[in-house]
Amino acid sequence: MCLINENFLELQDSYLFSTIHQKVESYREKNPDKKMIRLGIGDVTRPLVPAVVEAMQKSVLELSTAEGFRGYGPEQGYEFLRKAIAQNEYQKRNIDITEDEIFISDGSKCDSGNIGDIFSSDCVVAIPDPVYPVYLDTNVMAGRAGKFSSKTGHYEKIVYLPMNAENNFKPDLPKKRVDLIYLCFPNNPTGTVFTKEDLGKWVQYAKENQSIILYDSAYEAFLTEKDIPHSIFEIEGAKDVAIEFRSFSKTGGFTGVRCAYTVIPKQLKGYTRKKEAISIHKLWSRRMSTKFNGTSYIVQRGAEAIYSEEGQKQIRANIEYYLENAKIIKEGLEKIGYETYGGVNSPYVWLKIPKGMTSWEFFDYLLEEFQIVGTPGSGFGPSGEGYFRLTAFGTREDTEEAIQRLQISKKKE
Ligand code: MLT
Repeated sequence: MCLINENFLELQDSYLFSTIHQKVESYREKNPDKKMIRLGIGDVTRPLVPAVVEAMQKSVLELSTAEGFRGYGPEQGYEFLRKAIAQNEYQKRNIDITEDEIFISDGSKCDSGNIGDIFSSDCVVAIPDPVYPVYLDTNVMAGRAGKFSSKTGHYEKIVYLPMNAENNFKPDLPKKRVDLIYLCFPNNPTGTVFTKEDLGKWVQYAKENQSIILYDSAYEAFLTEKDIPHSIFEIEGAKDVAIEFRSFSKTGGFTGVRCAYTVIPKQLKGYTRKKEAISIHKLWSRRMSTKFNGTSYIVQRGAEAIYSEEGQKQIRANIEYYLENAKIIKEGLEKIGYETYGGVNSPYVWLKIPKGMTSWEFFDYLLEEFQIVGTPGSGFGPSGEGYFRLTAFGTREDTEEAIQRLQISKKKE
């Protein structure tokens, strides 16, 4: 008899975005003539920019020659891309990160999920609520979450960090000691941000408690306001306590192409039960060389092209496009009386739904009445109940039409 990993049985429902997809498909089958507007999962709609396409085409041709052909690449990523990232994302901002602290991968979803491999299943994990579901589900799979209580909507061993309008969507420091802390800013799902001072408190906490912060800054390219940190490594001392996840998905339109990176400072340490300090960088490097064969050469050349002068201009234009969509959503909703958050430094708008409806009821209402697909706040955790997320990654036409549909119905009321 082959025993299974029973931790999987503790997972609740299916993965959030799969549940939404199933609901939407079933509605579409029953209503084939209705035009749907998808502002649910944060998936980009702008095509790849010319600089990226040219670089990828060139690299395909290179692989078609005997001299240019390449087989397996380095598991940590090609040096040309790691160098480009270290210089452009970090050193240009005076952040001391070197290329050998960067690991190229095929996505931050995978990295932020897989990173758990190198930590003990006894680690106490703190997770904001609401949160990107991958952080929680992967810890459930690893056995760090314990049993689920349907009464509280919480797992017994997870330390939840509620984020709501009362605390400005900035979680308070944990009341008890924790080992691993997930933070994501600009935040998914609420679209809100941390200042340097806010983030500094967490770095301080991590130092005092020998914790490690898993910092997801996949949306940093959407920051518009000054003095908001793009990277946790802008905070003094963070190299001793943090890992950072970054992605080309939303920045470069790579959700389908797949390329991301994880930054692990060489000085970051974890501990054995005997209190022996071990390099986290070494462990991750070992994990990657065993379980990963590297992101494709073609994709890494495409990602590198984002850092050319043309590439930068072109991807900036796409980011501005999505930020304009966010503005249209936010201002459009506010005009008809919704309370909104985010949408300024982020492609996500988080809105308070009308009293008397749950997040899933509001999801059904938008789908059935307006054929608009969004994401229910409670899908991101119990503190997301009463809220709803719309993404700015749709086309301009769809974004404007979604807001018009809502505004017209409001006028009819
Ligand atoms: C989201 O909608 O939260 C994200 O697109 C999901 C992801 O990046 O995996």
